[in-house]
Amino acid sequence: MKCDVLTLFPDILTAYLNESILKRACEKDLLEVTLYNIRDFASGPHRTVDDYPYGGGAGMVFKPEPIFGALDFLKGDGEPRKVVLLSPQGKPFSQAIAEAYSREEKRFVFICGRYEGLDERIKVLVDEEVSIGDYVITGGELAALVIIDAVARLLPGALGDEKSIEDESFSWGLLDYPHYTRPREFRGMQVPDVLVSGNHKEIGLWRRRESLRKTLKVRPDLIEKVELTEQDKKILSELKEE
Ligand code: ADE
Repeated sequence: MKCDVLTLFPDILTAYLNESILKRACEKDLLEVTLYNIRDFASGPHRTVDDYPYGGGAGMVFKPEPIFGALDFLKGDGEPRKVVLLSPQGKPFSQAIAEAYSREEKRFVFICGRYEGLDERIKVLVDEEVSIGDYVITGGELAALVIIDAVARLLPGALGDEKSIEDESFSWGLLDYPHYTRPREFRGMQVPDVLVSGNHKEIGLWRRRESLRKTLKVRPDLIEKVELTEQDKKILSELKEE
């Protein structure tokens, strides 16, 4: 997967990309991220990228020229790309979108917005406008990192242990079950006996039950969307009785 990121603050992304799984994915050539400073595509002595909004009002607006210039430059090689604009007005990002991106898309351009917004005409360049949640952050950089991270870790080989993806919370559509490591007793708190029983069927059942318990408590909306087995339904009715 190749990602071109258009940003005014490339350094924000560098540190995160140079650690842990994303770093390894880059080293294994599963991921390639190229950062472009939008200011490099701006003209004039001050390389201005923003301007006052027509119609008045607070804040500044991203000018169209530098973004169009950057996209013209990137598209020069003729390779198809999905152009994603990060903004709170976008469609909500989810594990399902991460899975679709990791399956279907090879090349991305992420446009990181700043200021009050972008000149609306930039939208003709954009295939998808995506939000990472119903809140406003200062710019699209963190959102681009969230998306690159969520998609890259799904690429075959990125985690090193394929099973960990299958086991992950949202692959089930439920929240994750509790995890424990040594010591078996810590400050009076015990690891549940079943986890040290060696009985993998019982451990699997316990984990499913705890996933359902957590989801029912914190995100009951997810229960509506997930495919439940007969056993899940039985566990859920027991949990509701508790
Ligand atoms: N830029 C500012 N807020 C954002 C959000 N919630 N998602 C994506 N990009 C953003």
